[in-house]
Amino acid sequence: MRTQVAIIGGGPSGLMLSQLLNRAGVETVVLERQTRDYVLARIRAGVLEQGCVDLLRRMGCGERMEREGIIHEGTKLATVNGMFRVDFKARVGETVMVYGQTEVTHDLYAAQDAIGATIIDEAQNVALHDVTTDSPYVTWEKDGCSHRLDCLYIAGCDGFHGISRQSIPAEKRTEYERVYPFGWLGVLSRTAPAADELIYANHPRGFALASMRNPKLSRYYIQVSLSDKVEDWSDQAFWDELRRRLPAAVAESMETGPSIEKSIAPLRSFVTEPLRWGRLFLVGDAAHIVPPTGAKGLNLAASDVHYLYEALQAALTGDVGALDLYSERALKRIWGAMRFSWWMTSILHRFPGQSDFDQKIQEAELYQLETLETAQAAMARNYTGLPY
Ligand code: APR
Ligand code: PHB
Repeated sequence: MRTQVAIIGGGPSGLMLSQLLNRAGVETVVLERQTRDYVLARIRAGVLEQGCVDLLRRMGCGERMEREGIIHEGTKLATVNGMFRVDFKARVGETVMVYGQTEVTHDLYAAQDAIGATIIDEAQNVALHDVTTDSPYVTWEKDGCSHRLDCLYIAGCDGFHGISRQSIPAEKRTEYERVYPFGWLGVLSRTAPAADELIYANHPRGFALASMRNPKLSRYYIQVSLSDKVEDWSDQAFWDELRRRLPAAVAESMETGPSIEKSIAPLRSFVTEPLRWGRLFLVGDAAHIVPPTGAKGLNLAASDVHYLYEALQAALTGDVGALDLYSERALKRIWGAMRFSWWMTSILHRFPGQSDFDQKIQEAELYQLETLETAQAAMARNYTGLPY
């Protein structure tokens, strides 16, 4: 087989890049390790920056999002002193779209199918070859057969545990990481959301978040210890703890019900540099991981895709110099979102062993956010998305 761009990974990054390139007449092949059902069963965050919304519209994936997505003009934050709101629209004139990543991935697969894109699922033992030459290729196994794909470029969109980042020699990679000393226990329930906007709560017992997917589907999280297991938490125990951490008025009126998904996710900040090795380019979670506090995972994947799409299109029409700019350009925005996600995590969670001084600083940060329009504008700018 031969194509112009081989894309490793059929998650949001790989599908967005394939869709944009295909619509520009560029041939791609997406190689995905799992089945499509497996990919579509993943539950992930659901807040889209305007830049991500615009990109999805641009690639012809905006119709259901426009119909079913919910525009949010602000968010609520709660502390033991009460609840306050940061008005994105008033502070920076921007909004976010609440629309689940699962839905985004569904829409991307549907759009790729509609244009006859080549997506090979259950591709096992994907391996990258000769990525520093002008003739890179990819091999994999499926149904007991070995396959080879010759290409001009390879996009590593295979997530944190993929093969692409590992294909760059360790001595050529610089990795930056912070692992947080707690996790998020998340629950999805067919219940009405607790409020009309998201509520991020800083409570002495730990962080909590009340989010949503639609008027009949809610998503909640509570901070838990790294030693906790999902089986330690009955639905009732979860609802009781969530209610302890949310403002009383919200807790008293919220609807609870059976969890249809319950899982614990660790929190980590991670960046690898550079994002390029020869004709291999890293995109999305293959290149970076953010704690979910700032809802930046999918949104960062979108800006990476935007930058790489522009660079590949230029290179395929003669301007190969554009490829030299991808890594530096993407990393500027990645580190901006990395900082914001770290900041949101640091002001909203209770850190084991947190000193009294740390606690007072956290309270001062939250007080500034509550009382200073400039502090709210800075948060609103980051939350709704830094410029591409
Ligand atoms: N070969 C082929 N495919 C692979 C391999 C491999 N060796 N390793 C992983 N994959 C696939 C995974 O099965 C997954 O479908 O690559 C895909 C990577 O998708 P994501 O992990 O979702 O990463 P990305 O597409 O960059 O999307 C980032 O997804 O994980 C969330 O929070 C993250 O919202 C962010 C978004
Ligand atoms: C979610 O709805 O899953 C969600 C929303 C906002 C976040 C994290 C997760 O910051």
